[in-house]
Amino acid sequence: MTHPVMQQGRGTAPVLDVDPYDDAVLEQPHAMYAAVREAGPVAYLSRYGVHVMGRHRDIMPVLKDWETYSSTGGSGLGDIRKPGAWRPGSPIVEVDPPRHTQVRTVLQRILSPGLLRQWREGFEKAADELVQRLVERGEFDGVDDLSEAYVSQTFPDALGLKDSPERRRNLFLLGELNFDGQGPRNARFEATQKRADEIWDWYLDSMKREAMVPGGFGEKIFQAADAGEIDHETAPLLVRSFLRGGLDSTTSTISAALWYLAKDPAQWRALKADPSKVRTAFDEAMRLETPIQNVCRQTMREVEIDGVTVPDDSKILILLGSANRDPDQWERPDEFDLTRSTFGHLALGTGVHMCIGQMVARMEGEAVLKAVTSRVASLELAGEPTRALNNNLRSLKTLPLKATAA
Ligand code: HEM
Repeated sequence: MTHPVMQQGRGTAPVLDVDPYDDAVLEQPHAMYAAVREAGPVAYLSRYGVHVMGRHRDIMPVLKDWETYSSTGGSGLGDIRKPGAWRPGSPIVEVDPPRHTQVRTVLQRILSPGLLRQWREGFEKAADELVQRLVERGEFDGVDDLSEAYVSQTFPDALGLKDSPERRRNLFLLGELNFDGQGPRNARFEATQKRADEIWDWYLDSMKREAMVPGGFGEKIFQAADAGEIDHETAPLLVRSFLRGGLDSTTSTISAALWYLAKDPAQWRALKADPSKVRTAFDEAMRLETPIQNVCRQTMREVEIDGVTVPDDSKILILLGSANRDPDQWERPDEFDLTRSTFGHLALGTGVHMCIGQMVARMEGEAVLKAVTSRVASLELAGEPTRALNNNLRSLKTLPLKATAA
């Protein structure tokens, strides 16, 4: 594939005519990422009127400098400050300090290491029971039967969202909408929005205090509002941010880890030989898959990135998925390798907005991979996996697996 690059004047960003939201690119984005990296530290994406970055070494400092690269323009391509935005901004991911610091501090206190310790045993037991049942069946789908089934039960239960027959389906639909909404208003987004219209009342109700089961961390968010630590209007929006951000990303990573292990017997044997590598397996899958493929920032002044000028108030599409496979940063970037140090991958972002739920995600991921490693002797693909195409979420739709009991 060739990618037309038009050089402009010295110091201005080269113009790149690629479409990150094209089906074929979403299926296999890595050639497009290479083109963005080769174009320069920052390029201009003519189709969408935004700047774009793909090199690891240039992205790192941008994500760490919230004063220059603000989150207030929104996590997606659209500018949520402009009239007509399809949803209000998130009170955590789409605000800057000091407002961000205040909300994040409260959430960090709620999601304390003590609370996570209380969840660990339940998370591990649920994973072990589920994996045991699936191994008895022999063949199963790694997405539908395992990662989605597991995360859609453990995470909303921990949040304290009332269970119902439609909960799982509705939550994944909301996730799909959230991540499609971070791209352009294309046919994919419109179709998801149409489907989501049908569950909008359920969605609005599920952010309310009444939908929270006592004892979950959702209830604690409303209690923080009672205590005056955050505004009353902020509490349901925070629950919404958790519902939208915590489910699909974790599911995608678990599915990816299972896929890489099932297609590479040497890596599977390495994990069996040293089960303490479950954390590396989870992080390596996160690096390669990068479930949230990109985040956006807005320049607060004219800036120069590695010699290229970007005007004030420009939206920059930051390709985390590209940084995580940048050959200048990673040796053999496309290989799943349990011996590598995954330190510095950007799948969880970095800087003040670095994922606040990463310990929860890791606990879920490690629980599943631990159960699989101990209960399964051989893990293989039982067919070709398929992808679910989304404007920003990279994930598998199906993952046919065959497992024998250990
Ligand atoms: C493997 C799974 C996950 C991945 C790959 C992931 C990825 C990310 C990324 C890239 C960001 C930074 C966004 C930015 O800089 O604009 C982020 C922030 C965030 N994540 Fe996650 N996430 C995961 C799991 C979770 C879970 C389980 C939760 C909830 C418990 C969660 C809640 C959040 C929240 C609330 C933020 C906003 C933090 C802030 O702005 O300070 N995430 N996540």
